[in-house]
Amino acid sequence: MSDKNFKRHTITAALPYTNGPVHIGHLAGVYVPADIYARYLKSKGEDVLFVCGSDEHGVAITLRAKKEGVSPKEIVDKYHTLIKDSFDKFGIDFDIYSRTSSELHRETSSEFFKKLYHDGAFEERTSEQYYDEESKMFLADRYIIGTCPNCGYDAAYGDQCEKCGSSLSPSELIEPKSALSGDKPVLKETKHWFLPMQDYENWLKQWILEEHKEWKPNVYGQCKSWLDNGLNPRAMTRDLDWGVPVPVEGAEGKVLYVWFDAPIGYISATKEWANQQNKDWEPYWKDENTRLLHFIGKDNIVFHCIIFPSILKAEGSYVLPDNVPANEFLNLEGNKISTSKNWAVWLHEFLEEMPGKEDVLRYVLCANAPETKDNDFTWKDFQARNNSELVAILGNFINRALVLTNKYYEGSIPERGELFDIDKDVLEKLKKSPEKVSAALDKFKFREGLIEFMDLARVGNKYLAETEPWKLQKENPDRVKTIMNIALQIAANITIIGEPFLPKSMDKLIAMLGIQKHKWAQAGNQDILPAGHRINKPTLLFEKVEDETVQQQVEKLENTKKSNKMEDTSDIVGMKDEINFDDFMKMDMRVGTVLDAVKMPKSKKLLKLTIDTGIDKRTILSGISEHFSPEEVIGKQVTVLVNLAPRKMMGEMSEGMVLMAEDKEGKLKFIQPSESVNPGATIS
Ligand code: 2FM
Ligand code: ZN
Repeated sequence: MSDKNFKRHTITAALPYTNGPVHIGHLAGVYVPADIYARYLKSKGEDVLFVCGSDEHGVAITLRAKKEGVSPKEIVDKYHTLIKDSFDKFGIDFDIYSRTSSELHRETSSEFFKKLYHDGAFEERTSEQYYDEESKMFLADRYIIGTCPNCGYDAAYGDQCEKCGSSLSPSELIEPKSALSGDKPVLKETKHWFLPMQDYENWLKQWILEEHKEWKPNVYGQCKSWLDNGLNPRAMTRDLDWGVPVPVEGAEGKVLYVWFDAPIGYISATKEWANQQNKDWEPYWKDENTRLLHFIGKDNIVFHCIIFPSILKAEGSYVLPDNVPANEFLNLEGNKISTSKNWAVWLHEFLEEMPGKEDVLRYVLCANAPETKDNDFTWKDFQARNNSELVAILGNFINRALVLTNKYYEGSIPERGELFDIDKDVLEKLKKSPEKVSAALDKFKFREGLIEFMDLARVGNKYLAETEPWKLQKENPDRVKTIMNIALQIAANITIIGEPFLPKSMDKLIAMLGIQKHKWAQAGNQDILPAGHRINKPTLLFEKVEDETVQQQVEKLENTKKSNKMEDTSDIVGMKDEINFDDFMKMDMRVGTVLDAVKMPKSKKLLKLTIDTGIDKRTILSGISEHFSPEEVIGKQVTVLVNLAPRKMMGEMSEGMVLMAEDKEGKLKFIQPSESVNPGATIS
């Protein structure tokens, strides 16, 4: 922590995109460390606000919606709920988990933009951008796909090549194509509002490179390299129909850039929380005695250290982050976690497949956190850390201490008698332990903090192993009382310093000890449990992870690997994700007859079909013009997905989809009944 004595802490954890579930990489990089830190400060009695929520705008979400054939709103609702639930079950204890699709956020980000606009913070610029004439929309960088000029990968995005990792601009792509229509996009003029980042360069150099040398080397280094390379104006608006509308004249059809609105989401979340609590939100963002901290992954560094602070600075009344303890990435079994390749351990699946092991995952991810470099998660390591650390050290110590107390004293804490060197030594270690954990956590060294916490369990375990009270009970019961008292004080201390790391297990231990939750100030206290206090019957804190369990998880990944390979090497398109029977039954497919067909003006691909579906006669636009002439199609029986949501293409509504078979060469064939049937015949 900086030397300053802060009065309150606003802790933010990156708002996850709601275009998919969250995985262990997210947990390890952002949410576990942020939660440990927030819990630790709260335990110390600090005024802490811990905010997060869903980042529900941006192109990725619209792309996902298109892919799934649903609206963006449906996508964000689904994943918001799933992600929130996963965080909840892992004990990530946000004070508020908000969402950027809320009205309050729209208002907050809109007002923020307006203020900057009226203060003259933006440059209005007209530039040429790629436009898809078929879909009638400007293409965000992610919507443009082409060959990477650096490595030749033929499916690089307009902003980044996922193969070689280089960041690109769409104009650098060789043979750019629209991800929507596959057509070559054309350049067209459009107006946007830019933040002149170059004007903030000197200030940022002073503020970060001179005044925040204490930031983690990975964060400081990335900032330095951005600043050394020079900053360019960055558009704060986009041509898109999903997001917060740009609240100024002449901006119809434009929304705020997702990286403008998302971090303001932290502020909207604070407002929502303050409304709920009947508190004032402003001190949490505007009082100079507030310490703002952003927990993020390394891909978010530029946005939280350079762009958002410049936005806050331009506004003028906000505090700036005091620190941004970003982590590197977590790999999985030696490979980069990849959502598109399904190479991940998804939290909602872990929760289902390994119920009750939430703290184990928190433990393993913290012990192996990618704090200074990328790290690897393996199921073997998960098993080893569970079995030989959580079970064999922490669990074993607690179990021994509590079982013996029940056995010898019917659960009542015995008096401490004469102390020997070994006892004094252990009590001294008990006293020092919280300072050691604190020293590590204060520097965002969570792995080190965890080791220090586990050391206290190790001390306890070793103490019982060396003093062997079970051998002394007959001949020297007084000595055993002292030993057991000390062991139990250690157990009580463990509940305090272990709580930020293993909250659920510590709640369980608190219940077994029959005590209240204690605050950090009590840690190091050698008399938390008064003699005569009664504890409850213990149950196991942790259970062994068996080989089969780990094997199942490894096999699951091996299968993923196999299906990925199949996609890479063969012509057969890899199978889509499994669906259940209900998913299938949602599709209403019928045989229809094509009554009429005309070419869509200005489109190479689309035929406008009039189809008798047996229910009605409707218009369906079908991308088959390069394969069939209108005359060839009229009168044909075809398969129609009749309950697909209508969508507008080239100014015309299309109400359903004609299903086609596509062969290796990309030739299209109709899917027809083997004999003629009446229009409307159902297919199932
Ligand atoms: O990288 C991401 O997942 C972004 N959705 C993080 C946004 S953080 C904040 F700015 F909202
Ligand atoms: Zn490349």
